[in-house]
Parts: sequence; structure tokens; C-alpha cells
Amino acid sequence: MTFEDRGNLFYAKEEEIDVDENIIAVYYIKSSKFSTKIAAEQIAIEESIGTWTKITTELDYVRRLAAKAFKYSNSNEGIVKIAYPLELFDPEVGGIPNLLSIVAGNLFGLAGLDTVKLMDLELPKKFIQLFPGPQYGIDKIRKLVGTSTHRRPHVGTIIKPKVGLTPKDTAKVAYEAASGGLDLIKDDETLTSQTFCPFEDRLTAVMEKLDLVKEETGKTVLYAINISATYDKLLELADFAKDNGANCLMIDILTTGFSAVQILAQDSIKLPIHIHRTMHGALTEGLHGVSMMVIAKLTRLCGGDQLHTGTAAGKMGLAKDIPEIQKINEFLRSDWYGLKTIFPVASGGVHPGIVPINIEYLGTDLVIQAGGGVHGHPNGTRAGAKAMIQAAEAAFQNISLELYAQTHPELALALDKWKDKYAKKD
Ligand code: 3PG
Ligand code: 3PG
Ligand code: MG
Repeated sequence: MTFEDRGNLFYAKEEEIDVDENIIAVYYIKSSKFSTKIAAEQIAIEESIGTWTKITTELDYVRRLAAKAFKYSNSNEGIVKIAYPLELFDPEVGGIPNLLSIVAGNLFGLAGLDTVKLMDLELPKKFIQLFPGPQYGIDKIRKLVGTSTHRRPHVGTIIKPKVGLTPKDTAKVAYEAASGGLDLIKDDETLTSQTFCPFEDRLTAVMEKLDLVKEETGKTVLYAINISATYDKLLELADFAKDNGANCLMIDILTTGFSAVQILAQDSIKLPIHIHRTMHGALTEGLHGVSMMVIAKLTRLCGGDQLHTGTAAGKMGLAKDIPEIQKINEFLRSDWYGLKTIFPVASGGVHPGIVPINIEYLGTDLVIQAGGGVHGHPNGTRAGAKAMIQAAEAAFQNISLELYAQTHPELALALDKWKDKYAKKD
């Protein structure tokens, strides 16, 4: 055995665990060397008060902080549950970085644990309530955009090409998309403040056009400008955005960090925050890593208002992911100790022809987005935007796209162009 025998200090029975006083982590484990019972104990030891050997500095009073494994088996593969006493954590200062360093820390590299996936986290109310949570959530965003009564899915676009356009051309595309009736325009996750499209110039150019659309049509269109950056710059960008009429911000949460979102949510910025999850596949796909459900919970804690969770049909992911996406979306929309909800976002390879299947599986409290599926329309961005809105409206009213397309020429052209593209995931 790698770790020395510690008796029963790191084990407990399920009925002994007080769910109000512990954070419970659920792991899937596969080991070529140990049973999940031993693997679970090693994690509990490493991530709380122990180390690989017995130590003389483990004073009596420290033992109350031992993490306890309470679900495991003698098999080498399976689900394990570990209860970490709340006192081990430092939510107000250490925040999510501290939480992750414990429940998703060194354990991934322990010798002999071939595969470990953090599947879920059960967090007690008093821990959750120390975080800001979303400041807007689904209802307040719907209010901003004017869809509180007619609660159809929101439809958005990503300016494409994903990088390369100047601020002036970006604003032109935004104007076309907004004039076509979209609810949201967002940057791609890879666009920040490159020399060809500096942040400040892009923001002012786009907001000027969206203000014009507001004058012309009365509609508020959100522009999620990507402020993913080093923290000092991110705060400067957020201030600039706020002072110059921005109505939404966007962050790549995994590359920038959960704390960046939290800083904004509890700051005086008071703008909805759209969360892109670029890089998530390195953690969430496969048997080793961190599940998307965990990322969704942490995003909700720290204050994201919209979160990419995947599509039922599109260019990303596999069909087997759909039940998990449904579960995550359900979590984002349900009550969680009074924290506001998060608008789930389906994006990546979407076009009008697959809007209904996405809505059927993922629900109507959904933001559905298309980049190529808007700007690739034979008649350009404005027609592409209209076709997406028409598809969402048809799906919302349970009318087949073919029927709806008979009186909506933009939709008819889009259906003709993309036919069955990405209609099925394998
Ligand atoms: C994109 O950037 O192309 C996608 O929206 C990324 O996929 P995701 O929304 O499933 O994270
Ligand atoms: C996104 O950032 O969500 C995407 O880049 C989606 O782009 P696509 O619709 O062209 O795949
Ligand atoms: Mg993208």
C-alpha cells in the first residue's frame, strides 16, 4: 500500500454524515492497483489532514477535519463519495480556487489512481449563500430583451469570421444581425483585444449600431463583449464597457478563471455575464477530469447569467451527451437555495433546420445561437438572422419548419441550403 494504515479515521457510514456541515464530492474511480475503498481513503487523506505516512504533527484537535469516505466498494472501479468538513474550506477569502484545490486537487495525480472524475458536488446551503450567484438570471434577462410574456427561446449570433474583422465591419455585421430581429450578439471566445479589432473601438462601434436599432425598432439587443483578460485588465475593460454603454459582458470561464466572474458579479458593474466554456472538453470529456455539472454549479455560484451547455444537434459533442445536457439545463433553471437561475446556451454548428430538435430536447428557456448558420445564409446576415428567429418561433409554436417556410422565404432558403447538416449526432 502507498499510504500507511490509518485505521478508520478517514471512513464513515453514510448515516453519520451531516449534509449541512460537509461538502460531498462524488467521484468515478478506476484503479489498476486498489479497490475503490482504498482509493477513496487515499483521496480523503491527501485532500484533508493527512499525508502518505503517519505524522507526529497530527495533533488531536486536528482530527475533526478528516475527510470521510462513505461510499466505496471492494471493486477496482466505481463511484465513491467523500464528505469534506465545511471547516476545511475558506469560501470568503479563498473562494472557488480553494474549493477546487481540495475537491479537485492533487487527487488527480495520485499514483495508482488511473482514472478519477469529479462527477458532482453537493454543497450545503450556508456555503452556497456566501457566493453572489447570478445577478440577472433568466427572468431579468428576458425583461431586458422584452420576452417576459412571449417566452420563446432567445436567438443569438456570434460575429463571424471569429477573428479578423475591424471594429467598423464588426459593427456593420452586428447592425445587420440586430435588424434581422436577434436578441443577442456575442464575440467569439477567441476575440479579445487583438490589434485588428481593439476592445474599446469595437465596443463603441457596435453599441452605436445597436442604439440605432433600438431607435429604429424599439428592440434592445444584447451585445456580449468578451472581456476575458488578466484580472487587472479585465476590471479596466469592464469599467470601460460600463461607462460606454455596454449591456452585457462575456467571459471564457475556464481559461480566465471562476474568480473573474465572481469579481464582476459582486462588483458594481451590474451587467449580465455570458459564460463561454472553451477548454471544457479537456476536463469534461472522457473518464478522467471534472464533469460539466460541476462546472455549471461553480458558474452559478460565482455569478454567470448565461452558460454554454451544449446542443442536441450541432458541430460539438455526441448524442450520448444529451441526457447530461438536459440534467444540467434543468439544474440551471431550478431553485438552488434562492440563487437566481442561469440561461442555458446551445451553440456550435447550429442553423435554422436544427433549431426545432434542439428546442425539443433542451427546452424553450434556452438561448440558441448560430454563427455560420446566420452569416452563411445565401442572402446574408440580416436574412440569416430572420431565418433563425423564424425557426425558433415555428418550433415554439409547434409548427413544422416546412409549413412555416411557405410564408417565410428566409427560412425556406436556409432550409434549402443546409438540409440535414448536423441533424443527427452519433
Ligand atoms: C463554439 O464556440 O463554436 C461553440 O459554441 C463551443 O461549443 P459549446 O457551446 O458546446 O461550448
Ligand atoms: C460560439 O462561440 O458559440 C460559436 O463560435 C458558434 O459558431 P458556429 O455557429 O459558426 O459554429
Ligand atoms: Mg466560438
